[in-house]
Amino acid sequence: MIYNFNDPINRKNTNSVKYDLAYPIYGTNDLQQMWIADMDFKTPDFILKAIEERAKHPVLGYTFHSDTFYDSIVQWMKTRHQWEIQREWIHFAPGIVAGLSILIQAFTEVNDKVLIFTPVYNPFYNVVQNQDRSLVLSPLIYENETYHIDFEDLEKRLKDNVKIVIFCNPHNPVCRCWTPDELRKSGELCLQYGTLLISDEIHADLIMPGFKHTPFASLSPEIAANTITCMAPSKSFNMAGLSTSEVIISNPKLGKRYAEFVMDRLHVEMGNIFGDVALEAAYTHGADWMNQLNEYIFENVNFAKSFIAEKMPFVKTIKHEATYLSWMDFSDLPMSHDELWQKTIQDARIALNDGRIYGKEGEKFLRMNLACPKNDVETALLKLERAFEDYK
Ligand SMILES: Cc1ncc(COP(=O)(O)O)c(C=O)c1O
Repeated sequence: MIYNFNDPINRKNTNSVKYDLAYPIYGTNDLQQMWIADMDFKTPDFILKAIEERAKHPVLGYTFHSDTFYDSIVQWMKTRHQWEIQREWIHFAPGIVAGLSILIQAFTEVNDKVLIFTPVYNPFYNVVQNQDRSLVLSPLIYENETYHIDFEDLEKRLKDNVKIVIFCNPHNPVCRCWTPDELRKSGELCLQYGTLLISDEIHADLIMPGFKHTPFASLSPEIAANTITCMAPSKSFNMAGLSTSEVIISNPKLGKRYAEFVMDRLHVEMGNIFGDVALEAAYTHGADWMNQLNEYIFENVNFAKSFIAEKMPFVKTIKHEATYLSWMDFSDLPMSHDELWQKTIQDARIALNDGRIYGKEGEKFLRMNLACPKNDVETALLKLERAFEDYK
């Protein structure tokens, strides 16, 4: 079946964060919305139908995760990511950020050190700092329009009693699909210094042609025993409003500790009926849709790259290996970050993500969401071109 990603969908007045909650950041809801990481594509029919089917039953009482829910996760990991997992390793989280927060609570004490690689998805800062843990930053190395881990820096910091490293695999916003070697080297350093590894793999399905996602915990039994993986169909199938994610933990001791938190302390283990049927439908029927989605995103990525290279050569687009988020470097322009930011709002009239929210390395960078119909990407780029035409 050929899926259609071209049709525009009016999402205004649907309590959409992207469309109806832009005002606090941009001072208006009337920009072209190219920010927050959800897609403007229809959540696929096989998911909507599964929800409709369940909604036909007139009672929505307490529920539990079915065998088929777990089986669908096991199968997806096997067929999509060549990762053999067991049902007993799977736990629930009501969203990945919630899962990260719970993991920080479960595996660290107040003031313990947690390391993140910057620039990175901004809630990584919050889950650490807002729970009174101590944030340790290891800036990625930026060269030749791509990013690498600074292993020397990582080792230096791990020696100083870091309890947890949170990995973003693939990495938002720098579009890296980490290689097995990069992951192995990081995983081995964590083992050497007794640091627990949390791998946020929410973008695992959104991989560009020529690249392959490596689940961190698939690298070796030793690394697996020291790794907790957070995954979800929410980003890749556009169902983030259902708050349904999985946390995969092969080490039974770590799994027991996490389960104590989600079940006995926070009581969030149940999730919601519609999230479960949607996850199961996504992982059972979603392979073909996902392949076509990635091809479509890749075309948007390539279109944006060529457009920018030709019409805005003063902007560098970062090498794009994964995610649907383009990371753009405006540092060659003779203007401050504030001027740059205001120009995108007031002159271009598009809502992007401000690079600074991902860390100080994001100064003079902007993030653009390319998961929308091709026409919208073109419209947004034309607006950007016009706003910056004085700098050609
Ligand atoms: C790396 C990463 N983790 C987590 C999330 C959000 O996950 P959730 O909505 O399940 O909390 C995002 C959303 O953009 C993300 O990029």
